[in-house]
Amino acid sequence: MGYHQTTHRVVPDGRLTLNPRRAVTSAESWWQTAVVYQVYIRSFADGSGDGVGDIAGLRDRLPYLAQLGVDAIWINPWYPSPLADGGYDVADYRDIEPLYGTLAEADLVIAEAHEAGIRVLLDIVPNHSSDHHQWFVAALAGDPKARQRYHFRPGRGPDGEQPPNDWQSVFGGPAWTRLPDGQWYLHLFAPGQPDFNWENPEVRAEFEDVLAFWFDKGVDGFRIDVAHGLVKADGLPDGGPGHDAAPTLVQHNESHPAWDQDGVHEIYRGWRKVANRYAPERIFIAEAWVPNNERLARYLRPDELQTAFQFDFLRAPWRAEILRTVVDDAVTEAASVGAPPTWVLSNHDVTRTVTRYARSQPDHLIETDWERTRWAEEPADYETGLRRARAAALLQLALPGTAYVYQGEELGLEEVEDLPNDVREDPIWEQSGHTDVGRDGCRVPLPWSGDAAPYGFSTGATTWLPQPSNWGSRTAAAQDLDPDSTLNLYRRALSVRAATWVDAGELEWIETAPEVAAFRRGDAQCWVNTGTAPVNLPVGAEVMLASVAGISTTLPSDATAWLSAPGS
Ligand code: NOJ
Repeated sequence: MGYHQTTHRVVPDGRLTLNPRRAVTSAESWWQTAVVYQVYIRSFADGSGDGVGDIAGLRDRLPYLAQLGVDAIWINPWYPSPLADGGYDVADYRDIEPLYGTLAEADLVIAEAHEAGIRVLLDIVPNHSSDHHQWFVAALAGDPKARQRYHFRPGRGPDGEQPPNDWQSVFGGPAWTRLPDGQWYLHLFAPGQPDFNWENPEVRAEFEDVLAFWFDKGVDGFRIDVAHGLVKADGLPDGGPGHDAAPTLVQHNESHPAWDQDGVHEIYRGWRKVANRYAPERIFIAEAWVPNNERLARYLRPDELQTAFQFDFLRAPWRAEILRTVVDDAVTEAASVGAPPTWVLSNHDVTRTVTRYARSQPDHLIETDWERTRWAEEPADYETGLRRARAAALLQLALPGTAYVYQGEELGLEEVEDLPNDVREDPIWEQSGHTDVGRDGCRVPLPWSGDAAPYGFSTGATTWLPQPSNWGSRTAAAQDLDPDSTLNLYRRALSVRAATWVDAGELEWIETAPEVAAFRRGDAQCWVNTGTAPVNLPVGAEVMLASVAGISTTLPSDATAWLSAPGS
């Protein structure tokens, strides 16, 4: 998609307006090579002045996204929610959270994004609802039919005072909460997120109807939250000692009765049928934490979902040998089912890339929550972190397939690691008994302009999470003026990607020193140096783009270069 063909002008407050020459077309399979920008709506831009991001703010900033050159946005849950887990606790799947706006505004932002050439993906949360959802409210009131839509069970032990099984919540503590009437209900996440019972046909029918509700509004697809969790093993058996349900956010190499059950695939076959009723094509992207890429590929069979996040890239340390393995594995498995590889460097659940790369790098894939603990004890070198994050972005954007960019990565933001404890909202903080600070540090509202908080994020004085005092140089407006900024690197990268990599064909590794990952795709080459010494680039190759300035014949440490090398 040629969004770099749009023209733009800077308006006085530093924002951009655009004059799109090209709107969304029904071109086939745009999603196979798309760059998808993740909008964590609560922290993207605030149009109402209450310190919380919203649809009005997103509408204002569509020109920024069009100029960046993204093909699509994925909007994190924007439905009515008590925000027990940042909106992943949905109270009504067919409406908009009042803090974010109205359904009428949702219609507008979908239409305006399309006009700007940007597709719109929403986030569907089918594993659990909010405890404020009317079905759960009815279940709590004792309605037996309503209880069938969730997992209610008597407890174990003489008085039923033990949870029905040994499953642990992903956020910490037991995955069961007991009600005053003695029954327990299952919640693999926070107590405010009761798990649906997907054996109940009413649940299946309801979600197919919700999909159609939003497809009718023109949304182009859905990211599926906890796609591997919907179906539980018959009878909800114990996981057994050492096999609790917690490690869903890290790679777990063994099966567990709460996750990745074969029955889940029938649900997605039904969803695909709903999507297939629509033109242009509607697509799905699964968030499925499964033991390996072979299990992941099952979600991508031809009558199921089109894409699934491949998270190993996000967990890979800055080491060429591990990056090469991760890339090979992802490409091979995606190819085995004819799906595009789907690269994720960052999202709203993990520590920001700059910070992840700012400390010593392990020699294995990172287990995200464990790393947060270690990082608190090791000082961060943000200069190195940013340098590597820029290099990693160029690696990600040169790979075949789809790339997801989390908001703020294009500004090179670091994790806010010093949030005061009393402002933390992530349920992980409480449920871990304050042993894990959780994910708020990557969810701090974006800095848009100016030298002090709220940095153009809001017209109000405060923001729902406080912003650091040193973000003046990180704002989009400041970076717009600096040709070497991370924002301008991303803009150029997306433009060169569209012209070069998107149609470049298969990846072929180039033999290099172990600390270098280099590949060619057709006439283009991508060289990544994760080592400490500079490496020679191939003679005669022309540098199209590099993550550091002044590259010609050698590539310094912690840098990536894109080369044009016809015939070599
Ligand atoms: C994955 C989401 O990305 C995360 O933010 C959320 O807490 C869990 N699913 C539960 O919905």
